[in-house]
Amino acid sequence: SAAEKGGWSSFMRKEVAEQPDAVANTIRGRIVDGEVRIPELESFGDDELRGVRRITVVACGTASYAGQVAKYAIEQWARVPVEIELSHEFRYREPVIDDGTLVLSISQSGETMDTLMAVKYAREQGARTISICNTQGATIPRESDAVVYTHAGPEVAVASTKAFVAQITALYLFGLHLARVRGTLAPEVLAEALAELQAIPAKLQTALGQSERVAELAHWMADTRSVLFLGRHVGYPIAMEGALKLKELAYIHAEGFAAGELKHGPIALIEPGQPVFVVVPSPRGSANLHSKVVSNIQEIRARGARVIAIAEDGDAAVLPYADEVIRIPLAAPLFEPLLAVVPLQVFAMELSQAKGLDVDQPRNLAKSVTVE
Ligand code: AGP
Repeated sequence: SAAEKGGWSSFMRKEVAEQPDAVANTIRGRIVDGEVRIPELESFGDDELRGVRRITVVACGTASYAGQVAKYAIEQWARVPVEIELSHEFRYREPVIDDGTLVLSISQSGETMDTLMAVKYAREQGARTISICNTQGATIPRESDAVVYTHAGPEVAVASTKAFVAQITALYLFGLHLARVRGTLAPEVLAEALAELQAIPAKLQTALGQSERVAELAHWMADTRSVLFLGRHVGYPIAMEGALKLKELAYIHAEGFAAGELKHGPIALIEPGQPVFVVVPSPRGSANLHSKVVSNIQEIRARGARVIAIAEDGDAAVLPYADEVIRIPLAAPLFEPLLAVVPLQVFAMELSQAKGLDVDQPRNLAKSVTVE
């Protein structure tokens, strides 16, 4: 009903706008006196966390992309190898699980059957399991050894938005907790990462400020038949998430690629007028990564692509080659995905609306997939 939407025209629009709160509420109480504390992990003693030799993430769809983003952060901070498995692919082979394997599930609903079966299977094989979940008392957390809740609040729209940023937030807190326990980060580096995370809600608010421009772009592009998304490092899963949102909401063919893969195949798709969103890494991070992505932009532009760059404030290197530049606030490189995803969500939502489609309930999809 209109009342439930609190004056918004759709649940998705409301939930996109609630992202700063989703992140703030997920952080709340977990950073105390500049230190990360996750009391929910008490059933895992510090010794056990120090003994983890490998983390296997099981999840589907958008939740799996949150896992892919977190892989970069957890490996960098806690020096533990992390692999991301689609739950349904994990369950039906003979995955290697040993007593050093921690299985981390990610699910907004906590009821996704594929992920539930993966968690049950992992437990049968003797793995210890932690669930990242947005729904209190759902089945997956009940079947897990511990749960770290995301506090995004109920997500109603089929397309996941605020749950996604809350999942990355919870995973980052988990990664920093692990790094503290394992002693893999200098205290000042850890403190800096926590401060970066705490600054995200306000920056998300700023990123949302670009929504009108993104809406205009979506309305101009309402007849588009195919859109490509490129990203590198943590921008790669964001490219895939942008493509998934567009498929789900606007029924447009979309694909996300790792920018480095371009010359290994996908560049053959580029023809004049092909729209390509590029998530540009910060020039303040690895300068190398930034310049590599800028040269990718030059390559596709030379072949006629219509380039829409998502780039941080002040990054002028993209200006000569991009047809459009959507700005996001400055953040440390690992934190950019939390901001870069916003214009992609808004783009898909607005394009869906421009086509007169049901943004909250796209065809053929269910909010939570409770069958295998
Ligand atoms: C996201 O927009 C999708 N509707 C879908 O990919 C979703 O993220 C996936 O089905 C997993 O759901 P869960 O987080 O409830 O397990």
